[in-house]
Amino acid sequence: MSFLLNKDRIVMGVDYYPEHWDKSLWAEDLDRMKKAGIEFIRIAEFSWNLFEPQEGEYTYTFFDEFLELCKEKDMKVIFCTPTATPPAWLTDKYPEVLNARQDGVLYRHGARRHYNYNSPIYQRFTRNIVERIASHYAPHESIIGWQIDNEINCEKDEFYSESDTIAFREFLKEKYGTIKNLNKAWGTAFWNQTYTSFSEVYVPRTTLSNSTNPHEVLDYKRFVSDSACRWAKLQSDIIRKYIKPGDFVTTNGLFGNLDNHRMVRESLDFMTYDSYPNMAYGVDSHFIETSGLRDRFWGLLLDEVRSLKGNFGIMEQQSGANGWNTAMAAPTPKPGQITLWTMQSIAHGADFVCYFRWRTCTFGTEIYWHGILDYSGRDNRRLKEITEIHDKFAAIKEVSGSEYKAEVGVVETYSNKFDSELDAWHKMIETTSKTGIYEASQFTHTPIDYVYLQDETRVEELAKYKVLIYPHAVIVTEKEASLLKEYVENGGTLILGCRAGMKDETGICSQKNMPGLLSDISGVEVTEFSLVTPGEKALVSWDDDEIEAAVFTDELSPSSGAEVLATYANRYNKGVPALVENKYGKGRVIYFGGAFNRHSAEVFFKKLGVINPLSEIMDIPEECEIAIREKENNRYIFVLNYSGEAQEITLKKDMFNMYTSASCSGKITLSSYETLILKQ
Ligand code: GAL
Repeated sequence: MSFLLNKDRIVMGVDYYPEHWDKSLWAEDLDRMKKAGIEFIRIAEFSWNLFEPQEGEYTYTFFDEFLELCKEKDMKVIFCTPTATPPAWLTDKYPEVLNARQDGVLYRHGARRHYNYNSPIYQRFTRNIVERIASHYAPHESIIGWQIDNEINCEKDEFYSESDTIAFREFLKEKYGTIKNLNKAWGTAFWNQTYTSFSEVYVPRTTLSNSTNPHEVLDYKRFVSDSACRWAKLQSDIIRKYIKPGDFVTTNGLFGNLDNHRMVRESLDFMTYDSYPNMAYGVDSHFIETSGLRDRFWGLLLDEVRSLKGNFGIMEQQSGANGWNTAMAAPTPKPGQITLWTMQSIAHGADFVCYFRWRTCTFGTEIYWHGILDYSGRDNRRLKEITEIHDKFAAIKEVSGSEYKAEVGVVETYSNKFDSELDAWHKMIETTSKTGIYEASQFTHTPIDYVYLQDETRVEELAKYKVLIYPHAVIVTEKEASLLKEYVENGGTLILGCRAGMKDETGICSQKNMPGLLSDISGVEVTEFSLVTPGEKALVSWDDDEIEAAVFTDELSPSSGAEVLATYANRYNKGVPALVENKYGKGRVIYFGGAFNRHSAEVFFKKLGVINPLSEIMDIPEECEIAIREKENNRYIFVLNYSGEAQEITLKKDMFNMYTSASCSGKITLSSYETLILKQ
């Protein structure tokens, strides 16, 4: 059984950088960590020079010495490969390993993640260093697992080096076989973009009006993802030759232009995430202005991580103020907030938590990205809070291995994710619905899962959801359409929002009547459509509720047997069907002509009978989140108060307070940022 995802207890760790501190501090640091309840550390992700100070010169003494101390102190270790930060000697001698700006200017030494995945030279150096590190350190008894690189695709998820262009051409040759096929798939008849040979194709370059061929950009995003996945696999294949039985391979974060599901499937035992909800309170944070979610937005990201392979771990959990010397200044977490954000991670499916970082660095870009301890290293309020969290972990240990419970699944695909980043209309509807549905889920206490349709997805995985919402199935494949059909035939309820069935996999618009491949099951035809003029509202009357078709109006015509549930209530298309239900097999499809905002999503949850599954047993104000995890007939209910004020909740039944081991019921006041975990 893995030391971390063990189904028995929740283990606490911290990120540590022995290379940042005088050796005389190491033993004391490890002792103090142990005293606080910290049982593992993550090390070495940025320290290539400590293994290979010059090309071809290897040394292991630094981490040998440190690992011996870990053994003595019984501190477990996650060891990392150092490839996120190539040494200066390497990039200076072989500048082709560097990533480049779109206009070709190279990103130079001085920051991090400035390499590209496709440079044969960097791949060679990487194979070599990973092989040497893994073979040398993997047998060490303190090591429990491995992290590949650090935050793959973070900082920059676009690559424009010469090696990338060469690899892009290979990727396209493999995909299309001939240049004729590529021309067709990319619609190069438009604006005379036709290629006569693959050698004329480049990764997207600087163009006028920043308007590179959209089908090319869609393929480019897939190419970046493919490169990153191969990068992770290159490393995991080597590490796996050497690791001890039971040790794991993972990586951290969740970044763009990356099919994280494929990366996990091919290379990792599980995913870990780096959770910094305090960014919502930063000076240049857009979360405060755009949504009432603030730090609750991180629940969405945690749900995305859970969609990869179920329960996961946190590799970096906020423990202090964040900010670089250049950007992102944010306050110190207020008393209770570290606990709140830790429990947010656990509520959403994390089974171990590692804090970023033990001591705050006194030099470099991250002097404001605080750890638990400040520069002086003396005991402080945050260390005390973390020590108390450890006691809470002991009290809730049986939560480990339990499953997050949601009756609603929100469907996504990587093709639609990528397309919505490059297509203006798609972007507007997608971002509106993603935030709207998540806000509704948070504020009405209706848990959701994200469900990615992939080649491997089976209908059984969908069948566990009472309701699937596929906000904008703009790109649909035959396979996806038939999977959704099967889900509905077997009794599922599928909600589709506007623009379904508009494009094929290459991003080319279908000439079929929309919703194209989904016409059959949805029983509608889209006869007219429009963006809603900014400042205007398109209203829809649905029984006693008036909802908004946000951003867009698809005008619908039902086929025979389909039922019009609601029509547009204002503007030029007043009276035209906006919401159509079609019974299909044992289930039904409801097509909605707009994008979803918070209110319309709430109305859908209510009318479909999935809103707030705990309403019978507790009253919870909007300011608090509820999350449910279940294991062996036990239900664990997390109540998290995100507000800076006390909130009153009412339990209509006796429940067991896991922190205090006492039963509780009736009115309970949660102080600011307080969390409560109940067992039923
Ligand atoms: C993460 C990264 C860490 C540290 C932290 C604060 O993205 O993995 O190394 O940089 O953010 O910026």
